[in-house]
Amino acid sequence: MRARTAILISGRGSNMASLIAAAADPAFPAGIVLVISNVGSAEGLKHAAAAGIATKAIPHKAFASREAFDAALDAALGEAGVQIVCLAGFMRILSDWFVRKWEGRLLNIHPSLLPAFKGVRVHEQALQAGVRVSGCTVHFVVRELDAGPIVAQAAVPVKPDDTPDTLAARVLQAEHKLYPAALRQLAEGKVKLKNGRAVFA
Ligand code: GRF
Repeated sequence: MRARTAILISGRGSNMASLIAAAADPAFPAGIVLVISNVGSAEGLKHAAAAGIATKAIPHKAFASREAFDAALDAALGEAGVQIVCLAGFMRILSDWFVRKWEGRLLNIHPSLLPAFKGVRVHEQALQAGVRVSGCTVHFVVRELDAGPIVAQAAVPVKPDDTPDTLAARVLQAEHKLYPAALRQLAEGKVKLKNGRAVFA
């Protein structure tokens, strides 16, 4: 049985597309059963629908509180029998209860080599710091932002003439390979979250 996986997006959804492409292979251990966006106009929703995947827009602005929005998310995931949730450019902070409920089954991708450069304007931060290598990280989501146990990382060089955009594009290419590989590991039970740490089989 393939692990029933949902992807949460807010925008373009290129990481989502890489996960959908990987899961198009029936031998991939996870199947993408639902894509949810908190932004109704997100480009990624169109791509997912065109790929024949169930999509749902749950606009956060329609809810009075973060908890109410997260409850709607959780209900949609429950209805679809989702087992694993991948955040892919999902620009909302999730409530503690949601994170706890999905603990060990909730992944995020971040475009830096964590714990360096958390938050936003990540590539600006990297260029500002003058690092010669950057990259991307897939991690379990925990309460603290961009701080969860690391599942997988990939490094890319920073070139002397890089701008935030050129670095972002190079990192993004690495993201598109890394996220499917990390989802595979989780779906195959080769990585687990135990006592706040990623444990590898
Ligand atoms: C990616 O760089 C991801 O690491 C970050 O937001 C960006 C989303 O891009 N969290 P996309 O929507 O997957 O194209």
